[in-house]
Amino acid sequence: EKGGYEHYMRKEIHEQPSALRQTLSSRLDVDRGEVDLDLDFPQGYLESLEEIQFVACGTSYYASQYTAQLLEEFADVRATVTIASEYEFEGGRDPWRTLVVAVTQSGETADTLGAIRRAAGAGARTLAVTNTLGSTVTRETNDTLFIRAGPEIGVAATKTFASQVATLALLTVAIGRGRGALSTADARDVLEDLRALPGAVQQVLDEEEQVLAAAREYQDSDAFFFVGRRFGYPVALEGALKLKEISYDHAEGFAAGELKHGPLALVSDQTPVLAVLTTGADGDETRNNLTEAQTRRAPAIGVVTAGIRTKSLDWALEVPAVGVFEPLVANVYFQMFAYHIANLKERSIDKPRNLAKSVTVE
Ligand code: F6R
Repeated sequence: EKGGYEHYMRKEIHEQPSALRQTLSSRLDVDRGEVDLDLDFPQGYLESLEEIQFVACGTSYYASQYTAQLLEEFADVRATVTIASEYEFEGGRDPWRTLVVAVTQSGETADTLGAIRRAAGAGARTLAVTNTLGSTVTRETNDTLFIRAGPEIGVAATKTFASQVATLALLTVAIGRGRGALSTADARDVLEDLRALPGAVQQVLDEEEQVLAAAREYQDSDAFFFVGRRFGYPVALEGALKLKEISYDHAEGFAAGELKHGPLALVSDQTPVLAVLTTGADGDETRNNLTEAQTRRAPAIGVVTAGIRTKSLDWALEVPAVGVFEPLVANVYFQMFAYHIANLKERSIDKPRNLAKSVTVE
């Protein structure tokens, strides 16, 4: 059932290339720079849209943060992200010009359902992005987009995160094209990178031995810090969440630029810092922030674009060049790192203590 893997989580990490292929299947036309998502927005709706609001929790919140940046960059639309339990439809917005997107792999998260009900109550159009056919969220929104990752059994979300971001990247292209904000050539570039994503993830999965060796070296650390900028920032937050939830170790994610504004006080030779240094993550600036941590003797693990020379890292983990999706591929290293730290400690990886796969209470 686990296909020869000891845990569902590891199986699902390794399923990401096929999950992503399924997510993208027959939805992109790279040559024409178009996508087909089978979404019927009313005539003139996308052009008049002023704001896209994401509501989500946990890992789905980080996928939304990734997407908000994609939308600002490729679809010229304001995008905001709110933790679902904190969401209110606030004044000063025209509900007709505001699309509220619920990102929830299970489709049953009570906090997210509550947020979407408040949005619908205010008259906003709503869209669900989910992995689960027939889930509650699909019945309570105007439209649904399925991420098609296949069933995920491990409590820690892995392949659903990758498929959420890939689906939302397709939505970004659809909205950018629909608004006349994204040229054919630019859309083609994004779609080419997306098409290369499953192969890029596979190349990273093939480096698992390296990750296991790093996990062995650092398993007894006091804490783990993850840092990144731009698309690397939500990935840093996601990397820390994954590690804490399955290993029970202290892990925190920061915007790389924030290290010097406080967290640096926690850094020592017992706190490895994992950094996203790829394209799409302002690698050079983040490298400088990582150096500040290294000066305090922190071990440095950097995820870098393949072929870019990086000096004096304790570990340099390479991702193939896929533009703004490189941080998403970097996340696969963080997933494997969290898995191996937890596995070395013999944690209950698929069912961490105190956590449930879908959280149906507010
Ligand atoms: C972390 C994790 C949770 C979920 C969150 C939202 O690995 O799985 O943080 O992402 O509970 O769940 P969904 O996406 O089902 O709304």
